[in-house]
Amino acid sequence: MSKLGPADLEDLIGSLGGNPEGGLRVKVVVGPGDDAGVYLIGDTAFVETVDFITPPVNDPYTFGAVSACNSLSDVYSMGGTPITALAVAAFPLCDYKTDVLKEVLRGAQSVLNTAGVALLGGHSLEDTELKFGLSVTGTVNKDKILLKSGAKEGDVIVLTKPLGIGIITTALKRRVLNDTQIEEAVKWMLTLNAAASTAALNANATSCTDVTGFGFIGHACNMLKGASVDFVIDSANMPVMDIAVALAKEGVFPGGAVKNLNFFSNRVQFSATVPEHLKYILSDPQTSGGLLLTIGKDNISTFEHSGIFYKTIGYVTKGSGILKIN
Ligand code: CO
Ligand code: CO
Repeated sequence: MSKLGPADLEDLIGSLGGNPEGGLRVKVVVGPGDDAGVYLIGDTAFVETVDFITPPVNDPYTFGAVSACNSLSDVYSMGGTPITALAVAAFPLCDYKTDVLKEVLRGAQSVLNTAGVALLGGHSLEDTELKFGLSVTGTVNKDKILLKSGAKEGDVIVLTKPLGIGIITTALKRRVLNDTQIEEAVKWMLTLNAAASTAALNANATSCTDVTGFGFIGHACNMLKGASVDFVIDSANMPVMDIAVALAKEGVFPGGAVKNLNFFSNRVQFSATVPEHLKYILSDPQTSGGLLLTIGKDNISTFEHSGIFYKTIGYVTKGSGILKIN
């Protein structure tokens, strides 16, 4: 769901304490704090989430498509299937013609068509900066909800997209890269997490989230919140786009990577061999990043046969919620 930098809006919502008076018309199964909320109406479980972003790319159609993929991701990360969406847009009337917003919407619509999701409407307001996203509703098998927590000792840890999206789009903003040089990052941002979600369900994943604004380390730490396990990561196996490695070595990474690294550092143990530039890659905020999940090691074969991109990046041990990066 939406975020306020490393301090999560979800924590604030969670601190409101819900509705103690009762009388709710739905049974809440997953409240604030996971990738999306889940509630039951009768026997049907619904997933609900909202996300909107500023443009990581220059082309409005591509922006709409990327933002749609990004917004759908939280439903997939819960093991759900998105069914309907509402658009939210902030639009600087003085800077753009409405044709631009039309292109953004066309891009989003193309992704929703692929995903089989009905766009029911939306809301826009005038703002100084262009922002676009979706509120998405999905359904999920109530007995197969993929939560952030639940990783078990002995599980393997899997990531389904390479890191470096934030670094590459930052380089575009700073005119270090041009539109052609970010095509690989755009391809990954436009890859729906639908197939990865299906593979995770088939492999009986024990926990799952999507890597977005908090970067790999932030989302891994969130999976470890209150856990009695540690994640042991082999950073040499971490999938990273080559361009992002080169940029990070030159000191090109977004401010958000620094913020994430500082914010989560007390829960991360880096071994002395991890190079400095890799720490920023591991903290790099991702737009429409991949799924990060844990799977019983005997079930990884199911994943192998799925045909999707994935890397085994580590394993789960008994512990106290520490992210250990070797
Ligand atoms: Co989200
Ligand atoms: Co998420």
